[in-house]
Amino acid sequence: MKKILFATSEAVPFIKTGGLADVAGSLPKYFDEKNYEIKVILPKYMCIKEEWRNEMEYVTHFYMDWKWSSQYVGIMKLELEGITFYFVDNEAMFAGQKPYSDAKWDNEKFAFFSKAILCALPVLDYHPDIIHCHDWQTGLVPVYLDHLRAWLGFYKGIKTVMTIHNLKFQGVWSIDGAKEITGLPDYYFTSDKLEAYGDSNYLKGGIVYADRVTTVSNTYAEEIKTPFYGEKLDGLMNARDNVLSGIVNGLDYTDWNPATDDRIAKRFTVDTFRKDKVKNKVALQRELGLEENPKAMMIGIVSRLTDQKGFDLIAHVMDELCQDPIQIVVLGTGEERYENMFRHFAYKYKGKVAVNIFYSDAMSHKIYASCDAFLMPSLFEPCGLSQLMSLRYGTLPIVRETGGLKDTVEAYDETAKTGTGFSFANYNAHEMLDTVRYAEKVFYEKKRDWNKIVERAMKKDFSWNNSARQYEKLYDELLEK
Ligand code: ADP
Ligand code: GLC
Repeated sequence: MKKILFATSEAVPFIKTGGLADVAGSLPKYFDEKNYEIKVILPKYMCIKEEWRNEMEYVTHFYMDWKWSSQYVGIMKLELEGITFYFVDNEAMFAGQKPYSDAKWDNEKFAFFSKAILCALPVLDYHPDIIHCHDWQTGLVPVYLDHLRAWLGFYKGIKTVMTIHNLKFQGVWSIDGAKEITGLPDYYFTSDKLEAYGDSNYLKGGIVYADRVTTVSNTYAEEIKTPFYGEKLDGLMNARDNVLSGIVNGLDYTDWNPATDDRIAKRFTVDTFRKDKVKNKVALQRELGLEENPKAMMIGIVSRLTDQKGFDLIAHVMDELCQDPIQIVVLGTGEERYENMFRHFAYKYKGKVAVNIFYSDAMSHKIYASCDAFLMPSLFEPCGLSQLMSLRYGTLPIVRETGGLKDTVEAYDETAKTGTGFSFANYNAHEMLDTVRYAEKVFYEKKRDWNKIVERAMKKDFSWNNSARQYEKLYDELLEK
């Protein structure tokens, strides 16, 4: 039995701000359980819903050296669908309304979390073969492991994998500040280790010290070796090319299933969508105060509102787009400039544009089920899960050809009668607008062809089955050495 520990800052259903939570919460369930035992460890944030916190059971606690003092570390546990989730408890460290706050506190919080994971292992008498780290928040795990290994034989033989879900976030802090927070010796703060551009960089530490580095699509694995996508670490990514690979994300097909989804008005399958999918649209039009018209093309957006997602393109042509016979439904939170931009258009085009500035899992399901198309013109996109959810619900993605969007959405080809969505290459607002208008044309003028695209989209398999096998292979290779 190969023992793997996922170290992550978020996981569904406990805490989610984006796709990382979907991945860390669902992928563990898809490994071959005869050969791989996957456990997950995450912080016990105060903002985790009380119903979950009440279900956790106390396992153990200890005190850990932290900034010249000794800090409480509790370990709680919860079993869900066959997976053990551990939670690291320290009320002061993981307080707050949200899992992330300001940079200083986050840098301290996740250094504490990373060290606590490793210190908890001997106390739990649990020796994983591999610790699989996710994003900058756990970048220090491989670094602390290197450090602790010199002191304690227990850590010998533990391998690490670092998965980059988003290279933009790196956990950057001043070197002096990071030395004080982490307690790591000066040795680690040189340019071949944690230092980057005069600062300390947790993600860089993880990439340097991990045995294998992965990212969440093949295209992104290539893109991050170039200056445009490399977020100033493209040199490092090239240097680590021999251990770097891309494994595309999958979806939890039980949770995201239009045939069984109880959050949507009318369930449907690939055989019934022609008749039934539209009932979701009408229900949503009613709920959101849009003009009730089953024939109107509805375009959805469910997203963190950040520049990564291409909202500058949308802002640029939104007025033009709203002249078209379409409806737009937005669900998202994030940067104020984008929240206000959408509020403005919802006011200006009442009945046509509905904007929901909040976070709601239930509403996201309704949007994926109801819309005809889903707009995701990202500037960069490591993988993207929203377009996979859209495909699963027969909502055709309109995407920019970057990262995982390029790898998962096949552009409609009228002559060959292939494709599952619509795409454009350049980060250009009018190129996007032209592509949306082309989709409108197919929707209104070639309904049979449109429905064929929907059928192909719904038949695509983006469950974890393929990608979990690739992670298994990667673990096997690592443990053979
Ligand atoms: P990212 O991780 O970059 O945010 P992904 O496409 O990988 O992008 O994943 C985003 C996830 O977050 C999807 O599951 C999407 O449905 C969800 N999501 C984003 N914003 C909201 C929101 N306001 N309400 C509900 N779900 C949201
Ligand atoms: C990140 C990326 C997104 C990816 C997700 C899960 O948040 O922005 O593209 O799908 O992680 O891997």
